Amino acid sequence: MITTSAYQIDDGKISVNHLALEKALKPYATPFYFYNLDHVRARAGLLTSAFSEAANLPTTIHYAMKANANPTLLKMLRDCKLKVDVVSGGEADCAISNGFTAKDILFSGVAKTSNELKNAISAGYDQINVESLGELERLESLALEMNWKNPISIGLRLNPNVSPETHPYITTGLRENKFGLEEEAINEAVAHITKSRAPIFLRGLSLHIGSQLLDLDALDDALAIAIELQRKIVEKMKGITLGTQLNRFDAGGGIGINYETENEQAECAFIFDYANLLKKHLQPEFSAGRLERLLIEPGRWLVARSGLVVTEVQYTKTTQHKSFAIVDGGMNMLIRPALYQAEHRILPLVERVDEAISTFDVVGPICESADFLGRNRSLKSLKSGDRLAVFDAGAYGRTMASNYNQRGWPAEYVLQNGQIFRSDSK
Ligand code: LLP
Repeated sequence: MITTSAYQIDDGKISVNHLALEKALKPYATPFYFYNLDHVRARAGLLTSAFSEAANLPTTIHYAMKANANPTLLKMLRDCKLKVDVVSGGEADCAISNGFTAKDILFSGVAKTSNELKNAISAGYDQINVESLGELERLESLALEMNWKNPISIGLRLNPNVSPETHPYITTGLRENKFGLEEEAINEAVAHITKSRAPIFLRGLSLHIGSQLLDLDALDDALAIAIELQRKIVEKMKGITLGTQLNRFDAGGGIGINYETENEQAECAFIFDYANLLKKHLQPEFSAGRLERLLIEPGRWLVARSGLVVTEVQYTKTTQHKSFAIVDGGMNMLIRPALYQAEHRILPLVERVDEAISTFDVVGPICESADFLGRNRSLKSLKSGDRLAVFDAGAYGRTMASNYNQRGWPAEYVLQNGQIFRSDSK
């Protein structure tokens, strides 16, 4: 099953669900984000069927809401029966105010504060993924202090020391990264939990080796390490009450997209490869009764393709060295080009024919030379007032935006069930 692309580009003209985009978006003042939520819904359906039907693994999808926390998007994903992965109390509150319950929440993150952990305990989050021995001790003393009696479900995040081919800022499973526990620390944590007087139940290991993974080799290696370790822990805990709850495995997120081009078919097929990889590692565990549920935490793959930054050329400027298209939204709206050297596709929303192609640096309004959306881009001659669409901005766009230079928060418009309406993040 393949979904259709979020946007169709035909002879330079962009359309969405048969609507000409230039016309559909004309009423809205730039700069703004635009999300095709019908496309996200299709991808959520595809992901669900890849795991639950094709690979036949009992799977819970916890959407990593750090990718995009737009309220209409969150409500829609909840209606698609997804749950959430959060990394702060703020994200948890946002999930709850958009209809998720505490039981839908998987709580990740390296720096959980006492207050965040207390809230997680008393609200009854589905699982807390512990990332350090210090966090485990803090959780334990809070539970004892609160005289808490109900089970607190935790995962232990393994740092497997594998190296995915991705930008160094978004690898998370290497020894030098701050994330997760090394194998010896996991064993220490298990021993600690076994002796603890607090009602802490280890549900399983969790893993997230990095983001924007475009091949599965490193994940394959990491899964082999993690599953073997989990099997050993299951053996160790056999026969003790705590062991009866140890029946989950959390494989994290990380599936990437190719920003420089777009191929819906290949990206959808890749999800089936991903599901099959998990099946290869986990099916024996399910069959042997050592596992009851797989959790995954996808962010980018679900939402990146759906989003555009729509911005307007204010000025063009040609120096002796180059031409700039200076637009009204920049790194304040999409920091990925500046931070990760990401090359997002940029296309004009107005396609004039028979005009020369020029090379532009598309730069934003922020007083920083890092403020560019794309460099050395071949674009039809641009002039003031032309609108540009920056593609694949649905993940880590608005959530990483800033109010630097006091430019304010740009509006967000969504397309849902064929209707376009405004829906801003909080
Ligand atoms: N789970 C955990 C524990 C994570 O840390 C992340 C992302 C995810 C799930 C979701 O990963 P995804 O499926 O979206 O790759 N700002 C960067 C990406 C940072 C990702 C951080 N962690 C970017 O714009 O590329």
